[in-house]
Amino acid sequence: MSSTGAPLGMLAELTHRCPLACPYCSNPLELESRNTELDTDTWRRVMREAGAMGVLQVHLSGGEPASRRDLEDITKAARDAGLYTNLITSAVGVPPARLAALADAGMDHVQISIQDSVPKEADRIAGYDGAYRQKVALAHEVTRLGLRLTVNAVMHKHNIGRVAEMVALAVSLGAQRVEIAHVQYYGWALKNRASLMPSRADAEAAVAKIEQLRRDYQGRIVIDAVTPDYYARLPKACMGGWGRRSLNVTPSGRVLPCHAAETIPALEFWSVRDHALSDIWEHSPAFTAFRGTAWMKEPCSTCVHREKDFGGCRCQAFAMTGDARVADPVCHLSPHHQIVAELAEAGGEQAFAYRGR
Ligand code: SF4
Ligand code: FES
Repeated sequence: MSSTGAPLGMLAELTHRCPLACPYCSNPLELESRNTELDTDTWRRVMREAGAMGVLQVHLSGGEPASRRDLEDITKAARDAGLYTNLITSAVGVPPARLAALADAGMDHVQISIQDSVPKEADRIAGYDGAYRQKVALAHEVTRLGLRLTVNAVMHKHNIGRVAEMVALAVSLGAQRVEIAHVQYYGWALKNRASLMPSRADAEAAVAKIEQLRRDYQGRIVIDAVTPDYYARLPKACMGGWGRRSLNVTPSGRVLPCHAAETIPALEFWSVRDHALSDIWEHSPAFTAFRGTAWMKEPCSTCVHREKDFGGCRCQAFAMTGDARVADPVCHLSPHHQIVAELAEAGGEQAFAYRGR
C-alpha cells in the first residue's frame, strides 16, 4: 500500500432491496435496481482484493443483504480473504436456518437495527407490522449460536426519550454493543427532518442519560454514542476523515468514500467492474477530492482541529451550503453555523414520508 495506508473497513452494500420503509433511510434517493447488482464472482474478487489491501473488517449491508441468495457464498469469500465479517441486517425475513448457514460460512458478528423499545412504535417507524418480533427473535438466535451481537438504535424525536429502554433491551438480548446513532439529515431523511428532529432539550437530556447509562452498565455492554450533530459545538470526523479509514461499495460496484457521497455533484466514482479496489482507494477522483487537508478553505485550513475532525462531514456541508469544501456548518467556527442554529430551533411536525419498497 502507498502512503495513503489501507482502509480499516469496507461497507459492502450487496443490494438496495429492503422489506422496511424507514423514514430516515440512508440509502440514496435513486436506488440501484436488482439487475445492476454485482454478481457473486465479482463480490468474491472484491473480498480477495480487500483482504490483500489490508482491510480488516467487512460489513455486509444493504438494503437487506439477506435478500441475496448468495449471501453465504459472499460471506465465505470474505472469511477466506481473512476479513472479520459483520452482517448488518433488518432481521426481517431471516429465519434461524439461514442464520445458521451464515454462521457456518464464517459470519463473525451480527448487527440488528431495532427502531424502538416499544414494539408498536418500532413497527410504525419501520413501516412493517411484526418487524420488532422478528428482530428480537433473530437477536436471540444470534447469541444462541455464539455470534457476537450489536444492536443499532437510531434515535429521533419519537424515541429519544427511551434511550435507557433501548440500552436495557440490548442488554437483555445479550448484545455486547449498542450503537446509539442519531438520524443524519441528508438523502431521504432530509424529507422527514421536521418530523424526526428532536428538540434541543430532549437531545441534551439524552446525552446526559447516556453518560449515566455508561456508568450503570460498565463492563456489561459497550455504549457507542455521539452528540446529535445539530447540538454539537464541533463536528465529528465523519467516516474518520474522507478516504482515510473506510470505503463503501454500492450494489452495482461503484466505490464511495461514504454512503452519502453521491449527493455531492461532480464527484467521479470508479467501479470495481473497471478498476482494482486498491487503485480506486489510492487514485480515484472521488477518494482524492477531500482526502487530507489541502482542499480546505478558511477557517478549516488554519484551524488547530483540522487533523482531528477533517472539517466535519462533506455531505452535510454540501447539503446545507451548496459547497462541499466549506467547514461543516455544525462547527461553531463556520460562517454558516447560523443555518444549523436555526434548524435546531425550528421544530415542526408532519406525516412521515416512508421510503418506498
Ligand atoms: Fe473542524 Fe473546520 Fe471547525 Fe476547525 S473550523 S473545528 S477544522 S470544522
Ligand atoms: Fe459523507 Fe459525512 S456522510 S462525509
